[in-house]
Amino acid sequence: MEKGVVFKNIVKKRGDTTALADVSFSIKGGEFFSILGPSGCGKTTLLRLLAGFDTPDSGQIFLDGVDITHLPANRRPINTVFQNYALFPHLDIWENIAFGLRIMNKSERVIKDEVGKMLELIQMPEHAHKMPDQISGGQKQRVAIARALVNHPQVLLLDEPLAALDLKLRQKMLLDLDLIHDEVGITFIFVTHDQSEAMSLSDRIAVLHRGHLQQLGAPMEIYETPKNHFVADFIGDTNFFDGSMAEKVQNDYSLLTFEGFPPVICFNDKQLAVGDLVHLSVRPEKIHISREKPNTQSLHNCFEGVVDQTVYKGDHTDYIVLVANKKISLTQQHSRFLLDETPIRWKDKVWIWWHPDDGYILERERGRGVK
Ligand SMILES: Nc1ncnc2c1ncn2[C@@H]1O[C@H](COP(=O)(O)OP(=O)(O)OP(=O)(O)O)[C@@H](O)[C@H]1O
Ligand SMILES: [Mg+2]
Repeated sequence: MEKGVVFKNIVKKRGDTTALADVSFSIKGGEFFSILGPSGCGKTTLLRLLAGFDTPDSGQIFLDGVDITHLPANRRPINTVFQNYALFPHLDIWENIAFGLRIMNKSERVIKDEVGKMLELIQMPEHAHKMPDQISGGQKQRVAIARALVNHPQVLLLDEPLAALDLKLRQKMLLDLDLIHDEVGITFIFVTHDQSEAMSLSDRIAVLHRGHLQQLGAPMEIYETPKNHFVADFIGDTNFFDGSMAEKVQNDYSLLTFEGFPPVICFNDKQLAVGDLVHLSVRPEKIHISREKPNTQSLHNCFEGVVDQTVYKGDHTDYIVLVANKKISLTQQHSRFLLDETPIRWKDKVWIWWHPDDGYILERERGRGVK
């Protein structure tokens, strides 16, 4: 029997909206798994079904091979941490964490032992007897996590747990979450609409859009080989070129043509025929820029353009370059000391280029409603 969570053909309507439309995927036991997608895509709906706060219209949910679709929430070994902490304001930190154990009528000795361990885990033993309004937002969130872990669930659900925190604290909490996950070793299912949060923590990510699963894979897989236009666009920044396959050139490369942009050579591992419509996605960091024409013989995809915008960001600069009236975004890391060099400025004539392996071809879908 396989450990973990399985969603099988889950359908859930909310009013007139189909919140989840036939969603199927598996989460392995012990994984740090993220569910990622824009607001309204069905993330919370899916967590509520797994926690047992709702039942699906059709489909099944399995935990470690057992069908739990209709099991009451309090009989599932699954706890949830919500965005808004929801600590009991009249109980101190110690009693907030102890709450779940008291409900289960555990002995004082067990409670002392388990709550003590949890306070160590979240690195807050010295705060045990403060009230919730005497600690910071990040600390409250850590207490909420301890409270959810104290009765040893098999799965911890985290629904946008960091959304109320500022950027620096969020980054710190991400590291803490990673450590806590390593320590307790259970399945964490983390819901977010923030792709960088999901990328930095997860073993694997499921991308949802309008109630449909778009792609499931490791962070790098999703970033480098997005399945469709939506995923390429939602995860990071990219340049899209809409065109068609013109001819196969040696081995695994294809020549693509576009309206209003010169032809491009790109690695192509897809079974495409001449004339098939494609999107080409080229990430900004894959494109190079210089004022002089690069003098390599074998250079492909090298175009002359004019700088339309530069934004200096310290460690890198973002550029927009106009090539044949198409705006190309690119970013250049500053790995060398810059003050001795003449910077590329607005209106400068420049050359940009990228390696044929660094573009990614997406087949254009027709009539599926997913752009
Ligand atoms: N109680 C409700 N009644 C009617 N429609 C609802 C209800 N709750 C959610 N929906 C709809 O179901 C869809 C999915 O909602 P859900 O809350 O799962 O999205 P989400 O991905 O969690 O979004 P967010 O990132 O904003 O939290 C949305 O279209 C939403 O409008
Ligand atoms: Mg939600």
